[in-house]
Amino acid sequence: MTSDVIASTETEWALLCDLPELDEGEIATAKHPGGLDLAIYQVEGEYFVTSDRCTHGAASLYDEGELNGYVVECAWHNGTFDIRTGAALTMPCRTPLRSFDTRVDDGKLYINPKPRRFQQS
Ligand code: FES
Repeated sequence: MTSDVIASTETEWALLCDLPELDEGEIATAKHPGGLDLAIYQVEGEYFVTSDRCTHGAASLYDEGELNGYVVECAWHNGTFDIRTGAALTMPCRTPLRSFDTRVDDGKLYINPKPRRFQQS
């Protein structure tokens, strides 16, 4: 175990980054420990992390997405996702984003590196 990992009884948390200061609607980015680009969102003090690339055409949500509440809209074709679950909400997006459990500890943001299990309905 390294200092970048916090173990608990159920989850091993991986250090993602210093807690980003995000104003409403802003999106940050960081790398998953496995190299995947991630998008980081903050809504009402709660942090959410999803994969960064839109599942329709691979646009970067960090670079070009627009966050309104819990919904991020891709700038390329206006598909939307729920940042809480990664669910694809509107066409042309059908495949969910990967989403990760988050934890804030001592000014740092950790994620469970295993994506949440999710079934798009
Ligand atoms: S690339 Fe995101 S909606 Fe098409």
